[in-house]
Order: sequence, then structure tokens, then C-alpha cells
Amino acid sequence: MTTLGRDGTVNVAPMGVDYMGGYLVIKPYINTKTYENLLLNNEAVINLTNDSVLYYDSLLNRKGLKFIKSLKVKVPRIDGAVDYYIECVLDKYEHLGKDRAMMFLRPIHMEIGRGSKLAYSRANTYLLEMLIYYTKLKAFIEYDAISEALRTFTKVNYYFSELVRLRPTEPLMIRARSLFNESLNMVIKAILSKT
Ligand SMILES: Cc1cc2nc3c(=O)[nH]c(=O)nc-3n(C[C@H](O)[C@H](O)[C@H](O)COP(=O)(O)O)c2cc1C
Repeated sequence: MTTLGRDGTVNVAPMGVDYMGGYLVIKPYINTKTYENLLLNNEAVINLTNDSVLYYDSLLNRKGLKFIKSLKVKVPRIDGAVDYYIECVLDKYEHLGKDRAMMFLRPIHMEIGRGSKLAYSRANTYLLEMLIYYTKLKAFIEYDAISEALRTFTKVNYYFSELVRLRPTEPLMIRARSLFNESLNMVIKAILSKT
């Protein structure tokens, strides 16, 4: 999802999206930039893709992304392997517990993108799983929940070892390796800080 900050900086973050009664619904944590930016200017673009490389770049290689103008909103789109662009405005939101919000986005314009054009590969799914567990791992470490962090790291490790066995393409392998190393470093640092 792309959003715009106060100073015009484009923010991009992977977010799960649901469909509910004509709205596209996201559930961002309230400490995310996505949440902050949506409250600030009410606009977002959903850049729908299945490409795990694009998810990785949205999270950990944001400088590697390029953007192009949208049609109906000021927030730009990602110039990349995107299946659909959905330009949205925020109509309403509510709180989900104390950490999360539920934001109801009304689609105002939709266009087909260049497409993710992926041959089916489990490696794509495994990198996506690694990314999901990496974000959970980061949150557990921030909240000092070391045993949950260790349990989450075993998932990152599992999906990494499965991915390596599949001998994926180079762009996928490079990202998986750096994600694994980054996760391992985070865990080691967290353990050392406790001893
Ligand atoms: C596939 C995937 C789905 C995600 N879905 C959500 C989500 O629904 N809500 C959320 O708060 N974070 C989600 N995340 C984690 C955010 O992308 C991550 O916390 C990110 O750093 C938030 O960025 P921001 O602060 O720039 O908005 C997801 C991550 C991945 C890899």
C-alpha cells in the first residue's frame, strides 16, 4: 500500500486487505506510518501483487522502488510487477483493541498494472512467509518478548531452509538470504542484551 506523508514522502508497506460491504478494509497497527498517513490525508493506493520480491522491496529495499502518478489521488503508485492499482479514500475507521485500527477504504478508481507474471513457485510463498514472520519477530523483540521472538525465528529458519532446497531465482535467493541474516542478527542481539 502506498500513502503520502506530511512532507510529501511516499510511504510503502505490505498490508493485508479484506473486502467488506463495498469497502477494502485494512487493519494497520497504530504505530505504522500507513495508519498515520491515512489519518493525515485520507488517501491510499493499493498496489495488488503476488510477487514476494515486491513485498520484500516494500519492506526492506524501499530505495529500490520507483513510483508513478495516480489518476484520482495524490498518492503515487508503485512502478513494478503490480496486477491491479486501486486508488482509495478513507471513509471511516474504528479501533480494534488498543494497538490496531480497522480502516474502511472506498475504491474510487481501478486500473490493470503490468502484472506479476509469476510461474507458480513455492519459493515465492516461502519468501512471503519469511517476511510475515520477520515483521512479527521485529515486533516481539521491540516488546522484549524473547521467547516468542525465538519461536518466531524458528519459522523464519524453517521457510528459509525449505526455500533454499528449491533453488529459486537469484533475486529471490538474495532477498531470502539477507532476510534470514537480518533475523538471525536481531535474535542474537536481543539474547546478548539479556545476558
Ligand atoms: C504480507 C504482509 C502482510 C502484512 N499485513 C499487515 C497488516 O495487515 N497490518 C499491519 O499493521 N502490518 C502488516 N504487515 C507488517 C507491515 O508491513 C510492517 O509493520 C511495516 O513495517 C509497516 O510499515 P509502515 O510503518 O511504513 O506503515 C504485513 C507484512 C507483510 C509482509
